Amino acid sequence: MVTGNSGRESLPTGSEQQFLDRHWQTPVAPQGRVPDGYSELESSLLPESCGSCHAQQYQDWKTSLHSKAMGPGVHGQTLVMKESDPATARVCWSCHAPLSEQQPVLLQTVQSGESEWKSNPDFDSRLQQHGMSCAACHVREHQRIGPSRRISPEAAEKTDKGLPHGGFIAEPAFSKSAFCKGCHQFGSEGYALNGKLIENTYQEWLDSDYPAEGVQCQSCHMPDRRHLWRGIHDPEMTRKGVTITVGKPAQTDNSLAAVVTITNTGTGHYFPTYLTPRIIVTGYQLDPAKEMIPDTTQQTVIGREVTLNLSQEIFDTRIPPGESSLFNYEQPVSENAERLIIRIRVEPDYFYEKFFRVMLERNTAGKGRNLIQQAWDNARSTPYTLFEKELMLR
Ligand code: HEC
Ligand code: HEC
Ligand code: HEC
Ligand code: HEC
Ligand code: HEC
Repeated sequence: MVTGNSGRESLPTGSEQQFLDRHWQTPVAPQGRVPDGYSELESSLLPESCGSCHAQQYQDWKTSLHSKAMGPGVHGQTLVMKESDPATARVCWSCHAPLSEQQPVLLQTVQSGESEWKSNPDFDSRLQQHGMSCAACHVREHQRIGPSRRISPEAAEKTDKGLPHGGFIAEPAFSKSAFCKGCHQFGSEGYALNGKLIENTYQEWLDSDYPAEGVQCQSCHMPDRRHLWRGIHDPEMTRKGVTITVGKPAQTDNSLAAVVTITNTGTGHYFPTYLTPRIIVTGYQLDPAKEMIPDTTQQTVIGREVTLNLSQEIFDTRIPPGESSLFNYEQPVSENAERLIIRIRVEPDYFYEKFFRVMLERNTAGKGRNLIQQAWDNARSTPYTLFEKELMLR
Protein backbone atom coordinates (compact mmCIF):
# COMPACT_ATOMS: atom_id res chain seq x y z
CA MET A 1 0.00 0.00 0.00
CA VAL A 2 1.27 3.45 -0.87
CA THR A 3 1.34 5.83 2.05
CA GLY A 4 2.08 9.52 2.49
CA ASN A 5 0.04 12.44 1.30
CA SER A 6 -1.58 10.77 -1.65
CA GLY A 7 -4.32 9.26 0.54
CA ARG A 8 -5.38 12.63 1.85
CA GLU A 9 -5.19 14.13 -1.64
CA SER A 10 -7.79 11.58 -2.75
CA LEU A 11 -10.34 13.19 -0.44
CA PRO A 12 -11.91 16.59 -1.15
CA THR A 13 -10.34 19.61 0.54
CA GLY A 14 -12.58 21.90 2.62
CA SER A 15 -13.28 24.22 -0.29
CA GLU A 16 -13.87 21.34 -2.69
CA GLN A 17 -16.40 19.90 -0.24
CA GLN A 18 -18.15 23.27 -0.07
CA PHE A 19 -18.32 23.31 -3.86
CA LEU A 20 -19.79 19.78 -3.91
CA ASP A 21 -22.43 20.63 -1.27
CA ARG A 22 -23.54 23.59 -3.38
CA HIS A 23 -23.28 21.75 -6.68
CA TRP A 24 -25.36 18.73 -5.65
CA GLN A 25 -28.38 20.41 -4.12
CA THR A 26 -31.28 18.67 -5.82
CA PRO A 27 -33.36 19.38 -7.67
CA VAL A 28 -30.68 21.52 -9.26
CA ALA A 29 -32.05 25.10 -9.24
CA PRO A 30 -33.60 26.29 -12.53
CA GLN A 31 -30.82 27.59 -14.81
CA GLY A 32 -32.63 30.94 -15.11
CA ARG A 33 -32.05 33.66 -17.67
CA VAL A 34 -29.70 32.90 -20.57
CA PRO A 35 -26.62 35.19 -20.41
CA ASP A 36 -26.33 37.89 -23.07
CA GLY A 37 -24.47 36.85 -26.18
CA TYR A 38 -25.23 33.09 -25.93
CA SER A 39 -26.30 31.59 -29.26
CA GLU A 40 -29.27 29.24 -29.37
CA LEU A 41 -26.87 26.29 -29.37
CA GLU A 42 -25.01 27.57 -26.30
CA SER A 43 -28.29 28.15 -24.42
CA SER A 44 -29.56 24.61 -24.99
CA LEU A 45 -29.24 22.09 -22.16
CA LEU A 46 -29.86 19.11 -24.46
CA PRO A 47 -26.95 16.65 -24.65
CA GLU A 48 -27.11 16.56 -28.45
CA SER A 49 -26.45 20.34 -28.41
CA CYS A 50 -23.35 19.89 -26.23
CA GLY A 51 -22.43 17.04 -28.56
CA SER A 52 -22.22 19.27 -31.61
CA CYS A 53 -18.98 20.65 -30.09
CA HIS A 54 -18.03 17.91 -27.57
CA ALA A 55 -18.44 14.97 -29.94
CA GLN A 56 -16.28 12.46 -28.06
CA GLN A 57 -18.01 12.97 -24.69
CA TYR A 58 -21.42 12.79 -26.38
CA GLN A 59 -20.61 9.57 -28.27
CA ASP A 60 -19.33 7.92 -25.08
CA TRP A 61 -22.11 9.18 -22.84
CA LYS A 62 -24.78 7.88 -25.22
CA THR A 63 -23.50 4.33 -24.70
CA SER A 64 -23.50 4.65 -20.90
CA LEU A 65 -26.25 3.84 -18.42
CA HIS A 66 -26.19 7.47 -17.24
CA SER A 67 -27.86 8.40 -20.53
CA LYS A 68 -30.53 5.74 -19.84
CA ALA A 69 -31.20 6.74 -16.24
CA MET A 70 -34.78 7.66 -17.20
CA GLY A 71 -35.34 4.38 -19.00
CA PRO A 72 -38.71 2.59 -18.96
CA GLY A 73 -38.23 1.15 -15.44
CA VAL A 74 -37.82 4.50 -13.73
CA HIS A 75 -40.14 6.35 -16.09
CA GLY A 76 -42.88 3.73 -15.70
CA GLN A 77 -42.76 3.99 -11.92
CA THR A 78 -42.52 7.78 -11.65
CA LEU A 79 -45.32 8.27 -14.20
CA VAL A 80 -47.88 7.10 -11.65
CA MET A 81 -45.97 8.37 -8.63
CA LYS A 82 -45.74 11.97 -9.80
CA GLU A 83 -49.50 12.25 -9.28
CA SER A 84 -50.09 9.94 -6.31
CA ASP A 85 -46.88 10.67 -4.40
CA PRO A 86 -44.79 13.49 -5.93
CA ALA A 87 -42.49 13.65 -2.90
CA THR A 88 -41.26 10.11 -3.60
CA ALA A 89 -41.01 10.77 -7.35
CA ARG A 90 -38.75 13.69 -6.50
CA VAL A 91 -36.49 11.38 -4.49
CA CYS A 92 -36.14 9.17 -7.58
CA TRP A 93 -35.46 12.14 -9.85
CA SER A 94 -32.79 13.48 -7.47
CA CYS A 95 -30.52 10.70 -8.80
CA HIS A 96 -32.12 9.78 -12.14
CA ALA A 97 -32.98 13.26 -13.58
CA PRO A 98 -31.75 15.91 -11.13
CA LEU A 99 -32.25 19.16 -13.11
CA SER A 100 -35.37 21.23 -12.29
CA GLU A 101 -36.01 21.41 -16.03
CA GLN A 102 -36.35 17.59 -15.98
CA GLN A 103 -39.07 17.54 -13.31
CA PRO A 104 -42.74 18.11 -14.28
CA VAL A 105 -43.78 19.21 -10.78
CA LEU A 106 -41.85 21.29 -8.25
CA LEU A 107 -42.47 21.97 -4.58
CA GLN A 108 -43.03 25.71 -4.26
CA THR A 109 -43.68 28.02 -1.36
CA VAL A 110 -47.02 29.77 -1.77
CA GLN A 111 -48.19 33.02 -0.18
CA SER A 112 -49.34 31.45 3.11
CA GLY A 113 -45.77 30.20 3.57
CA GLU A 114 -46.83 26.57 3.01
CA SER A 115 -45.30 24.37 0.33
CA GLU A 116 -47.35 23.13 -2.59
CA TRP A 117 -46.71 20.95 -5.64
CA LYS A 118 -47.00 23.08 -8.76
CA SER A 119 -46.58 22.18 -12.39
CA ASN A 120 -43.21 23.39 -13.65
CA PRO A 121 -43.34 25.91 -16.55
CA ASP A 122 -39.70 25.12 -17.48
CA PHE A 123 -40.30 21.36 -17.73
CA ASP A 124 -38.73 19.84 -20.86
CA SER A 125 -39.80 16.23 -21.44
CA ARG A 126 -37.01 15.65 -24.00
CA LEU A 127 -34.42 16.68 -21.44
CA GLN A 128 -36.09 14.44 -18.85
CA GLN A 129 -35.73 11.41 -21.12
CA HIS A 130 -31.97 12.00 -21.24
CA GLY A 131 -31.63 11.07 -17.54
CA MET A 132 -28.17 11.88 -16.18
CA SER A 133 -27.48 14.45 -18.87
CA CYS A 134 -24.35 16.57 -19.42
CA ALA A 135 -25.92 19.62 -17.80
CA ALA A 136 -26.76 17.72 -14.59
CA CYS A 137 -23.05 17.35 -13.90
CA HIS A 138 -21.64 20.42 -15.71
CA VAL A 139 -24.07 23.37 -15.90
CA ARG A 140 -25.31 25.71 -13.14
CA GLU A 141 -27.01 29.04 -13.98
CA HIS A 142 -25.93 28.44 -17.59
CA GLN A 143 -22.28 28.51 -16.47
CA ARG A 144 -20.13 25.52 -17.52
CA ILE A 145 -18.11 23.87 -14.78
CA GLY A 146 -15.59 21.10 -15.42
CA PRO A 147 -12.36 19.52 -14.21
CA SER A 148 -9.08 21.44 -14.18
CA ARG A 149 -7.47 21.67 -17.57
CA ARG A 150 -4.90 19.09 -18.50
CA ILE A 151 -2.57 21.88 -19.65
CA SER A 152 -0.85 24.58 -17.57
CA PRO A 153 -3.00 27.45 -16.22
CA GLU A 154 -0.83 29.97 -18.14
CA ALA A 155 -1.66 28.28 -21.43
CA ALA A 156 -5.31 28.10 -20.39
CA GLU A 157 -5.36 31.83 -19.69
CA LYS A 158 -4.56 32.47 -23.33
CA THR A 159 -7.01 30.03 -24.86
CA ASP A 160 -9.94 30.88 -22.56
CA LYS A 161 -10.53 34.15 -24.38
CA GLY A 162 -13.53 34.00 -26.68
CA LEU A 163 -14.50 30.43 -25.84
CA PRO A 164 -18.10 29.37 -26.43
CA HIS A 165 -20.49 29.57 -23.47
CA GLY A 166 -18.26 32.17 -21.80
CA GLY A 167 -15.52 29.65 -21.03
CA PHE A 168 -15.82 27.53 -17.91
CA ILE A 169 -15.00 27.31 -14.24
CA ALA A 170 -12.37 24.71 -13.38
CA GLU A 171 -13.16 22.68 -10.25
CA PRO A 172 -10.65 20.02 -9.17
CA ALA A 173 -13.43 18.18 -7.26
CA PHE A 174 -14.61 16.81 -10.64
CA SER A 175 -11.63 14.47 -10.58
CA LYS A 176 -12.33 12.98 -7.15
CA SER A 177 -14.55 10.12 -5.99
CA ALA A 178 -16.53 12.52 -3.79
CA PHE A 179 -18.05 13.96 -6.98
CA CYS A 180 -19.93 10.67 -7.49
CA LYS A 181 -20.92 10.19 -3.86
CA GLY A 182 -24.32 11.95 -3.84
CA CYS A 183 -25.96 9.28 -6.01
CA HIS A 184 -23.80 6.24 -5.25
CA GLN A 185 -23.81 6.42 -1.46
CA PHE A 186 -26.71 6.80 0.95
CA GLY A 187 -26.23 9.20 3.85
CA SER A 188 -25.91 7.70 7.34
CA GLU A 189 -29.68 8.22 7.80
CA GLY A 190 -30.44 6.32 4.57
CA TYR A 191 -32.21 2.97 4.34
CA ALA A 192 -30.21 0.11 5.84
CA LEU A 193 -30.83 -3.63 6.10
CA ASN A 194 -29.11 -5.84 8.62
CA GLY A 195 -27.13 -2.78 9.77
CA LYS A 196 -25.76 -2.08 6.26
CA LEU A 197 -26.84 0.75 3.97
CA ILE A 198 -28.53 -0.23 0.69
CA GLU A 199 -26.04 1.94 -1.26
CA ASN A 200 -22.57 2.11 0.24
CA THR A 201 -20.20 2.33 -2.73
CA TYR A 202 -18.23 5.41 -1.66
CA GLN A 203 -17.67 4.02 1.86
CA GLU A 204 -16.53 0.66 0.43
CA TRP A 205 -14.00 2.55 -1.71
CA LEU A 206 -12.94 4.64 1.31
CA ASP A 207 -12.29 1.47 3.34
CA SER A 208 -10.13 -0.01 0.55
CA ASP A 209 -6.47 0.65 -0.34
CA TYR A 210 -7.51 2.66 -3.43
CA PRO A 211 -7.73 6.15 -1.82
CA ALA A 212 -4.16 5.83 -0.52
CA GLU A 213 -3.05 4.83 -4.01
CA GLY A 214 -4.79 7.86 -5.50
CA VAL A 215 -7.24 5.65 -7.45
CA GLN A 216 -10.60 7.41 -7.81
CA CYS A 217 -13.93 6.20 -9.19
CA GLN A 218 -12.97 8.16 -12.32
CA SER A 219 -9.67 6.25 -12.71
CA CYS A 220 -11.61 3.06 -13.47
CA HIS A 221 -14.95 4.34 -14.73
CA MET A 222 -13.75 7.37 -16.75
CA PRO A 223 -10.27 6.32 -17.93
CA ASP A 224 -8.51 9.24 -19.66
CA ARG A 225 -11.66 11.27 -18.84
CA ARG A 226 -13.74 9.13 -21.22
CA HIS A 227 -17.47 9.26 -20.40
CA LEU A 228 -17.91 5.49 -20.39
CA TRP A 229 -19.06 4.49 -16.89
CA ARG A 230 -18.92 0.79 -17.66
CA GLY A 231 -19.92 -1.44 -14.76
CA ILE A 232 -21.49 -4.80 -14.01
CA HIS A 233 -23.47 -4.71 -17.28
CA ASP A 234 -20.27 -4.86 -19.30
CA PRO A 235 -18.52 -8.27 -19.47
CA GLU A 236 -15.10 -6.80 -20.29
CA MET A 237 -15.22 -4.31 -17.43
CA THR A 238 -16.36 -6.96 -14.98
CA ARG A 239 -13.58 -9.32 -16.11
CA LYS A 240 -11.06 -6.58 -15.28
CA GLY A 241 -12.46 -6.46 -11.76
CA VAL A 242 -11.83 -10.06 -10.68
CA THR A 243 -9.20 -12.79 -10.90
CA ILE A 244 -10.57 -16.31 -11.21
CA THR A 245 -8.53 -19.47 -10.78
CA VAL A 246 -9.56 -23.10 -10.86
CA GLY A 247 -7.37 -25.61 -9.00
CA LYS A 248 -6.48 -28.98 -10.49
CA PRO A 249 -9.42 -31.35 -9.88
CA ALA A 250 -8.80 -34.02 -7.26
CA GLN A 251 -10.39 -37.29 -8.27
CA THR A 252 -10.85 -40.52 -6.37
CA ASP A 253 -12.82 -43.61 -7.44
CA ASN A 254 -16.04 -42.08 -6.26
CA SER A 255 -15.57 -38.36 -5.78
CA LEU A 256 -14.50 -35.31 -7.70
CA ALA A 257 -13.34 -32.06 -6.08
CA ALA A 258 -12.07 -28.74 -7.43
CA VAL A 259 -11.58 -25.34 -5.84
CA VAL A 260 -12.55 -22.14 -7.65
CA THR A 261 -11.09 -18.93 -6.23
CA ILE A 262 -12.64 -15.59 -7.12
CA THR A 263 -10.60 -12.62 -5.94
CA ASN A 264 -11.65 -8.99 -6.09
CA THR A 265 -8.42 -7.65 -7.56
CA GLY A 266 -9.69 -4.71 -9.63
CA THR A 267 -13.03 -3.56 -8.31
CA GLY A 268 -12.83 -0.42 -6.17
CA HIS A 269 -15.68 -1.56 -3.91
CA TYR A 270 -17.52 -4.79 -3.12
CA PHE A 271 -17.93 -7.19 -6.01
CA PRO A 272 -20.72 -6.38 -6.75
CA THR A 273 -21.45 -3.17 -4.88
CA TYR A 274 -25.26 -3.22 -5.12
CA LEU A 275 -27.90 -5.73 -4.12
CA THR A 276 -29.36 -5.72 -7.63
CA PRO A 277 -26.95 -8.02 -9.55
CA ARG A 278 -26.08 -11.61 -8.74
CA ILE A 279 -23.24 -13.83 -9.86
CA ILE A 280 -23.82 -17.57 -10.09
CA VAL A 281 -20.91 -20.00 -9.91
CA THR A 282 -21.76 -23.49 -11.19
CA GLY A 283 -19.85 -26.75 -11.51
CA TYR A 284 -21.13 -29.85 -13.35
CA GLN A 285 -19.87 -32.97 -15.10
CA LEU A 286 -20.14 -33.74 -18.82
CA ASP A 287 -20.37 -37.12 -20.48
CA PRO A 288 -18.40 -37.99 -23.67
CA ALA A 289 -21.31 -36.66 -25.78
CA LYS A 290 -20.82 -33.33 -23.95
CA GLU A 291 -24.20 -33.68 -22.25
CA MET A 292 -24.61 -32.42 -18.73
CA ILE A 293 -24.90 -35.30 -16.26
CA PRO A 294 -27.89 -34.72 -14.00
CA ASP A 295 -27.26 -34.58 -10.25
CA THR A 296 -23.65 -33.48 -10.64
CA THR A 297 -24.49 -29.78 -10.49
CA GLN A 298 -23.37 -27.64 -7.59
CA GLN A 299 -23.95 -23.90 -7.31
CA THR A 300 -23.18 -20.89 -5.20
CA VAL A 301 -24.26 -17.25 -5.47
CA ILE A 302 -22.19 -14.10 -4.98
CA GLY A 303 -24.42 -11.16 -4.14
CA ARG A 304 -26.61 -9.61 -1.53
CA GLU A 305 -29.95 -11.39 -1.60
CA VAL A 306 -32.88 -9.48 -0.15
CA THR A 307 -36.66 -9.87 -0.18
CA LEU A 308 -38.51 -7.92 -2.90
CA ASN A 309 -39.93 -5.40 -0.43
CA LEU A 310 -36.40 -4.83 0.95
CA SER A 311 -37.57 -5.82 4.44
CA GLN A 312 -35.07 -8.63 4.96
CA GLU A 313 -31.57 -9.64 3.95
CA ILE A 314 -31.30 -13.35 3.18
CA PHE A 315 -27.52 -13.54 2.68
CA ASP A 316 -24.59 -11.33 1.72
CA THR A 317 -21.69 -13.02 -0.06
CA ARG A 318 -20.27 -9.99 -1.91
CA ILE A 319 -16.48 -9.81 -2.01
CA PRO A 320 -14.72 -6.75 -0.49
CA PRO A 321 -11.69 -5.27 -2.35
CA GLY A 322 -8.65 -7.50 -2.06
CA GLU A 323 -10.57 -10.45 -0.62
CA SER A 324 -11.48 -13.83 -2.11
CA SER A 325 -14.41 -16.16 -2.22
CA LEU A 326 -13.94 -19.92 -2.52
CA PHE A 327 -16.23 -22.34 -4.28
CA ASN A 328 -15.51 -25.95 -3.34
CA TYR A 329 -16.96 -28.22 -5.97
CA GLU A 330 -17.30 -31.64 -4.40
CA GLN A 331 -19.60 -34.30 -5.80
CA PRO A 332 -19.72 -38.04 -6.42
CA VAL A 333 -17.99 -38.66 -9.73
CA SER A 334 -20.32 -40.03 -12.33
CA GLU A 335 -19.29 -43.25 -14.10
CA ASN A 336 -19.32 -41.66 -17.52
CA ALA A 337 -17.93 -38.28 -16.54
CA GLU A 338 -15.31 -37.03 -19.02
CA ARG A 339 -15.07 -33.35 -18.12
CA LEU A 340 -15.79 -30.90 -15.35
CA ILE A 341 -17.24 -27.55 -16.34
CA ILE A 342 -16.92 -24.44 -14.19
CA ARG A 343 -19.13 -21.60 -15.34
CA ILE A 344 -19.74 -18.15 -13.89
CA ARG A 345 -22.82 -16.26 -15.02
CA VAL A 346 -23.66 -12.64 -14.24
CA GLU A 347 -27.23 -11.40 -13.97
CA PRO A 348 -26.76 -7.60 -13.73
CA ASP A 349 -30.48 -6.90 -13.24
CA TYR A 350 -31.44 -9.93 -11.15
CA PHE A 351 -33.40 -7.92 -8.55
CA TYR A 352 -35.16 -5.72 -11.11
CA GLU A 353 -36.17 -8.71 -13.24
CA LYS A 354 -38.11 -10.10 -10.25
CA PHE A 355 -39.36 -6.67 -9.24
CA PHE A 356 -40.84 -5.83 -12.67
CA ARG A 357 -42.23 -9.35 -13.13
CA VAL A 358 -44.15 -9.12 -9.86
CA MET A 359 -45.44 -5.65 -10.78
CA LEU A 360 -46.84 -7.11 -14.01
CA GLU A 361 -48.25 -10.22 -12.32
CA ARG A 362 -50.01 -8.19 -9.64
CA ASN A 363 -51.05 -5.55 -12.15
CA THR A 364 -49.76 -2.68 -10.00
CA ALA A 365 -48.08 -0.64 -12.75
CA GLY A 366 -51.22 1.30 -13.74
CA LYS A 367 -50.68 3.46 -16.79
CA GLY A 368 -46.96 2.68 -16.61
CA ARG A 369 -47.70 -0.94 -17.58
CA ASN A 370 -46.29 -0.81 -21.13
CA LEU A 371 -43.11 0.83 -19.88
CA ILE A 372 -42.71 -1.73 -17.09
CA GLN A 373 -43.20 -4.49 -19.66
CA GLN A 374 -40.31 -2.96 -21.69
CA ALA A 375 -38.19 -2.64 -18.55
CA TRP A 376 -38.83 -6.31 -17.75
CA ASP A 377 -37.80 -7.32 -21.28
CA ASN A 378 -34.61 -5.25 -20.90
CA ALA A 379 -33.81 -6.75 -17.50
CA ARG A 380 -34.12 -10.27 -18.93
CA SER A 381 -31.74 -9.51 -21.78
CA THR A 382 -28.64 -8.55 -19.75
CA PRO A 383 -27.22 -11.83 -18.30
CA TYR A 384 -23.89 -13.08 -19.70
CA THR A 385 -21.19 -15.67 -19.10
CA LEU A 386 -18.24 -14.11 -17.27
CA PHE A 387 -16.04 -17.19 -17.18
CA GLU A 388 -16.06 -20.77 -18.36
CA LYS A 389 -13.49 -23.50 -18.00
CA GLU A 390 -13.54 -27.09 -19.17
CA LEU A 391 -11.31 -29.56 -17.28
CA MET A 392 -10.58 -33.00 -18.72
CA LEU A 393 -10.89 -35.79 -16.16
CA ARG A 394 -8.73 -38.88 -16.22
C1 HEC B 1 -20.42 25.95 -29.73
C2 HEC B 1 -19.62 24.87 -29.23
C3 HEC B 1 -19.90 24.39 -27.80
C4 HEC B 1 -21.11 24.03 -27.26
C5 HEC B 1 -22.49 24.03 -27.90
C6 HEC B 1 -20.83 23.57 -25.92
N1 HEC B 1 -19.48 23.67 -25.66
FE1 HEC B 1 -18.55 23.25 -23.93
N2 HEC B 1 -16.78 23.97 -24.63
C7 HEC B 1 -16.56 24.36 -25.93
C8 HEC B 1 -15.16 24.70 -26.09
C9 HEC B 1 -14.49 25.14 -27.38
C10 HEC B 1 -14.55 24.53 -24.82
C11 HEC B 1 -13.10 24.72 -24.45
C12 HEC B 1 -12.38 23.44 -24.55
C13 HEC B 1 -10.95 23.59 -24.15
O1 HEC B 1 -10.36 24.62 -24.38
O2 HEC B 1 -10.46 22.63 -23.56
C14 HEC B 1 -15.59 24.07 -23.93
C15 HEC B 1 -15.39 23.74 -22.61
C16 HEC B 1 -16.31 23.01 -21.83
C17 HEC B 1 -16.04 22.43 -20.55
C18 HEC B 1 -14.74 22.49 -19.79
C19 HEC B 1 -13.85 21.33 -20.15
C20 HEC B 1 -12.70 21.18 -19.18
O3 HEC B 1 -11.55 21.09 -19.63
O4 HEC B 1 -12.96 21.15 -17.98
C21 HEC B 1 -17.18 21.78 -20.16
C22 HEC B 1 -17.37 20.98 -18.88
C23 HEC B 1 -18.16 21.97 -21.19
N3 HEC B 1 -17.60 22.72 -22.20
C24 HEC B 1 -19.43 21.46 -21.13
C25 HEC B 1 -20.42 21.73 -22.07
C26 HEC B 1 -21.79 21.29 -21.94
C27 HEC B 1 -22.31 20.45 -20.80
C28 HEC B 1 -22.46 21.75 -23.01
C29 HEC B 1 -23.94 21.62 -23.31
C30 HEC B 1 -24.88 21.98 -22.24
C31 HEC B 1 -21.49 22.48 -23.83
N4 HEC B 1 -20.29 22.45 -23.21
C32 HEC B 1 -21.79 23.08 -25.06
C33 HEC B 1 -17.52 24.41 -26.93
C34 HEC B 1 -18.87 24.18 -26.78
C1 HEC C 1 -26.87 12.74 -10.00
C2 HEC C 1 -26.68 11.31 -9.79
C3 HEC C 1 -25.44 10.60 -10.24
C4 HEC C 1 -24.11 11.01 -10.20
C5 HEC C 1 -23.57 12.34 -9.70
C6 HEC C 1 -23.32 9.92 -10.69
N1 HEC C 1 -24.12 8.86 -11.03
FE1 HEC C 1 -23.53 7.05 -11.73
N2 HEC C 1 -25.45 6.46 -11.94
C7 HEC C 1 -26.56 7.19 -11.53
C8 HEC C 1 -27.77 6.45 -11.84
C9 HEC C 1 -29.20 6.89 -11.54
C10 HEC C 1 -27.36 5.25 -12.47
C11 HEC C 1 -28.25 4.12 -12.98
C12 HEC C 1 -28.76 4.45 -14.32
C13 HEC C 1 -29.81 3.42 -14.75
O1 HEC C 1 -29.40 2.30 -15.11
O2 HEC C 1 -30.99 3.74 -14.69
C14 HEC C 1 -25.89 5.30 -12.52
C15 HEC C 1 -25.10 4.31 -13.09
C16 HEC C 1 -23.70 4.26 -13.00
C17 HEC C 1 -22.87 3.18 -13.47
C18 HEC C 1 -23.32 1.95 -14.24
C19 HEC C 1 -23.54 0.78 -13.32
C20 HEC C 1 -23.91 -0.52 -13.95
O3 HEC C 1 -24.86 -1.10 -13.42
O4 HEC C 1 -23.30 -1.00 -14.90
C21 HEC C 1 -21.57 3.50 -13.14
C22 HEC C 1 -20.32 2.67 -13.39
C23 HEC C 1 -21.60 4.80 -12.50
N3 HEC C 1 -22.90 5.24 -12.43
C24 HEC C 1 -20.48 5.48 -12.05
C25 HEC C 1 -20.47 6.82 -11.66
C26 HEC C 1 -19.28 7.59 -11.41
C27 HEC C 1 -17.87 7.06 -11.50
C28 HEC C 1 -19.69 8.84 -11.07
C29 HEC C 1 -18.84 10.05 -10.75
C30 HEC C 1 -17.94 10.51 -11.79
C31 HEC C 1 -21.14 8.86 -11.10
N4 HEC C 1 -21.58 7.61 -11.48
C32 HEC C 1 -21.94 9.95 -10.79
C33 HEC C 1 -26.54 8.42 -10.92
C34 HEC C 1 -25.42 9.23 -10.76
C1 HEC D 1 -29.34 7.86 -4.22
C2 HEC D 1 -29.60 7.79 -5.65
C3 HEC D 1 -30.83 7.06 -6.16
C4 HEC D 1 -32.14 7.27 -5.80
C5 HEC D 1 -32.69 8.25 -4.78
C6 HEC D 1 -32.92 6.37 -6.63
N1 HEC D 1 -32.10 5.64 -7.45
FE1 HEC D 1 -32.68 4.24 -8.80
N2 HEC D 1 -30.75 3.79 -9.17
C7 HEC D 1 -29.66 4.45 -8.64
C8 HEC D 1 -28.44 3.80 -9.10
C9 HEC D 1 -27.03 4.22 -8.74
C10 HEC D 1 -28.85 2.74 -9.92
C11 HEC D 1 -27.95 1.73 -10.65
C12 HEC D 1 -27.47 0.67 -9.74
C13 HEC D 1 -28.50 -0.29 -9.36
O1 HEC D 1 -28.93 -1.04 -10.23
O2 HEC D 1 -28.89 -0.32 -8.17
C14 HEC D 1 -30.30 2.76 -9.95
C15 HEC D 1 -31.10 1.87 -10.69
C16 HEC D 1 -32.46 1.94 -10.78
C17 HEC D 1 -33.27 1.09 -11.64
C18 HEC D 1 -32.75 0.01 -12.57
C19 HEC D 1 -32.20 0.59 -13.83
C20 HEC D 1 -33.25 1.11 -14.76
O3 HEC D 1 -33.07 2.23 -15.28
O4 HEC D 1 -34.27 0.41 -14.99
C21 HEC D 1 -34.58 1.45 -11.44
C22 HEC D 1 -35.81 0.87 -12.11
C23 HEC D 1 -34.58 2.51 -10.45
N3 HEC D 1 -33.29 2.78 -10.07
C24 HEC D 1 -35.73 3.12 -9.99
C25 HEC D 1 -35.73 4.09 -8.98
C26 HEC D 1 -36.95 4.62 -8.40
C27 HEC D 1 -38.37 4.28 -8.83
C28 HEC D 1 -36.55 5.48 -7.41
C29 HEC D 1 -37.44 6.28 -6.45
C30 HEC D 1 -38.31 5.49 -5.63
C31 HEC D 1 -35.09 5.49 -7.41
N4 HEC D 1 -34.64 4.63 -8.36
C32 HEC D 1 -34.32 6.27 -6.56
C33 HEC D 1 -29.68 5.54 -7.81
C34 HEC D 1 -30.81 6.03 -7.19
C1 HEC E 1 -22.15 11.89 -14.13
C2 HEC E 1 -21.59 13.21 -14.37
C3 HEC E 1 -21.19 13.61 -15.77
C4 HEC E 1 -21.98 13.62 -16.91
C5 HEC E 1 -23.40 13.13 -17.06
C6 HEC E 1 -21.16 14.19 -17.95
N1 HEC E 1 -19.92 14.48 -17.47
FE1 HEC E 1 -18.43 15.45 -18.45
N2 HEC E 1 -17.16 15.08 -16.90
C7 HEC E 1 -17.54 14.57 -15.69
C8 HEC E 1 -16.37 14.39 -14.86
C9 HEC E 1 -16.38 13.81 -13.45
C10 HEC E 1 -15.26 14.85 -15.61
C11 HEC E 1 -13.79 14.85 -15.18
C12 HEC E 1 -13.18 13.46 -15.16
C13 HEC E 1 -11.80 13.42 -14.60
O1 HEC E 1 -11.26 14.48 -14.22
O2 HEC E 1 -11.22 12.33 -14.53
C14 HEC E 1 -15.81 15.32 -16.90
C15 HEC E 1 -15.06 15.90 -17.92
C16 HEC E 1 -15.62 16.54 -19.04
C17 HEC E 1 -14.91 17.33 -20.02
C18 HEC E 1 -13.41 17.61 -20.01
C19 HEC E 1 -12.77 16.51 -20.81
C20 HEC E 1 -11.27 16.56 -20.93
O3 HEC E 1 -10.79 15.71 -21.68
O4 HEC E 1 -10.60 17.36 -20.28
C21 HEC E 1 -15.83 17.75 -20.95
C22 HEC E 1 -15.56 18.62 -22.17
C23 HEC E 1 -17.11 17.19 -20.58
N3 HEC E 1 -16.94 16.45 -19.42
C24 HEC E 1 -18.28 17.33 -21.30
C25 HEC E 1 -19.42 16.55 -21.10
C26 HEC E 1 -20.51 16.43 -22.06
C27 HEC E 1 -20.59 17.14 -23.37
C28 HEC E 1 -21.41 15.57 -21.50
C29 HEC E 1 -22.69 15.02 -22.10
C30 HEC E 1 -22.59 14.40 -23.42
C31 HEC E 1 -20.90 15.20 -20.18
N4 HEC E 1 -19.70 15.78 -20.01
C32 HEC E 1 -21.58 14.38 -19.26
C33 HEC E 1 -18.81 14.23 -15.30
C34 HEC E 1 -19.90 14.13 -16.15
C1 HEC F 1 -10.19 -0.10 -9.17
C2 HEC F 1 -11.24 0.17 -10.15
C3 HEC F 1 -12.57 0.72 -9.63
C4 HEC F 1 -12.79 1.79 -8.79
C5 HEC F 1 -11.76 2.65 -8.07
C6 HEC F 1 -14.22 1.94 -8.70
N1 HEC F 1 -14.85 0.98 -9.45
FE1 HEC F 1 -16.86 0.78 -9.71
N2 HEC F 1 -16.55 -0.97 -10.74
C7 HEC F 1 -15.32 -1.46 -11.11
C8 HEC F 1 -15.51 -2.74 -11.79
C9 HEC F 1 -14.41 -3.62 -12.33
C10 HEC F 1 -16.90 -2.97 -11.81
C11 HEC F 1 -17.63 -4.20 -12.39
C12 HEC F 1 -17.73 -5.28 -11.33
C13 HEC F 1 -18.74 -4.97 -10.25
O1 HEC F 1 -19.89 -4.65 -10.59
O2 HEC F 1 -18.41 -5.03 -9.05
C14 HEC F 1 -17.52 -1.83 -11.15
C15 HEC F 1 -18.90 -1.66 -10.99
C16 HEC F 1 -19.50 -0.49 -10.54
C17 HEC F 1 -20.93 -0.25 -10.52
C18 HEC F 1 -21.97 -1.24 -11.02
C19 HEC F 1 -22.94 -1.77 -9.99
C20 HEC F 1 -22.55 -2.93 -9.13
O3 HEC F 1 -23.47 -3.46 -8.43
O4 HEC F 1 -21.38 -3.37 -9.03
C21 HEC F 1 -21.11 1.01 -10.01
C22 HEC F 1 -22.42 1.73 -9.81
C23 HEC F 1 -19.80 1.54 -9.68
N3 HEC F 1 -18.87 0.60 -10.02
C24 HEC F 1 -19.57 2.80 -9.14
C25 HEC F 1 -18.34 3.20 -8.61
C26 HEC F 1 -18.14 4.38 -7.80
C27 HEC F 1 -19.21 5.39 -7.45
C28 HEC F 1 -16.81 4.39 -7.42
C29 HEC F 1 -16.09 5.36 -6.50
C30 HEC F 1 -16.64 5.50 -5.16
C31 HEC F 1 -16.18 3.24 -8.05
N4 HEC F 1 -17.14 2.54 -8.74
C32 HEC F 1 -14.84 2.91 -7.95
C33 HEC F 1 -14.09 -0.89 -10.86
C34 HEC F 1 -13.88 0.21 -10.03
